[in-house]
Amino acid sequence: MIINCKKIANEIISETKPKVDELHKNGIVPCIAIVMAGNDYASKIYIHNKSKACQKAGIRTREIIFRENISEYELMKSIEKLNNDKSVTGILVQLPLPKHMDEKKVCEIISPAKDVDVFNPINFGNFIIGNTDLTPCTAYGIMKVLKYEQIKISEKHCVVVGRSNIVGKPISHLLLKSDATVTVCHSKTHNLENFCKNADVIVSATGVPKLIKKNMVKNGAVVIDVGINRDENGKLCGDVDFENVEPLCSYITPVPKGIGLVTVAALVHNAMKTACFNLFKNK
Ligand code: GUN
Repeated sequence: MIINCKKIANEIISETKPKVDELHKNGIVPCIAIVMAGNDYASKIYIHNKSKACQKAGIRTREIIFRENISEYELMKSIEKLNNDKSVTGILVQLPLPKHMDEKKVCEIISPAKDVDVFNPINFGNFIIGNTDLTPCTAYGIMKVLKYEQIKISEKHCVVVGRSNIVGKPISHLLLKSDATVTVCHSKTHNLENFCKNADVIVSATGVPKLIKKNMVKNGAVVIDVGINRDENGKLCGDVDFENVEPLCSYITPVPKGIGLVTVAALVHNAMKTACFNLFKNK
């Protein structure tokens, strides 16, 4: 079965909207600043989609796009300004940043209270020890998909391919927390096929087009494809060789119109969450 991620994304946004309405009633106007540097075409589409989804839920957005050659210092200064701007309740820095910048250093100065992506190490640490309401967007979206489809994770063998801070590590953590046995594979893993073949659930987030082939997937497996890549003809594709893998799966997510949509919806949820932090502040 091909999972209808659009339906799940819409459900996340519909769940979020009444909470945003409640914030408005309490005099809090959720507003996220979306910061990007450079001209990357894909990033521009992503931030446009993120803006649109937030607005659908009643969350304001402010897109701030800097030139490619802005200095790291200038960018950090502008983030600091947003940290101190009371009308901004969330900050998103679109990655990748231009090559001359240190992404870690830039993400570290996003105020933890406005960090909708959970990029600040304080928030990421709190996420790992289960001490926060904020969950990295893609991992949140994937767990929502599994829950929506009533896919049991407890006691299952989940193989995560990719170990990034943005997807691989957080989703491995959440699957483990749901009592799965989790194997994390990556670009230096020998015999990736042997690990994947034994998986009840495969989550692939590598950015390698069509890495997961049919000989690597067992019958009835659940396959979650996080990749958004271009194939040899320039056509959008995931990490999974969809055409050949799909017939084997009990559930699979497509690319495009797959996990990307629920990631954006999760961002809307997190933007509502950071705005909620203002409920407990002295007015
Ligand atoms: N670039 C690719 N994915 C993401 C994401 O989820 N958040 C941000 N801020 N940048 C990204």
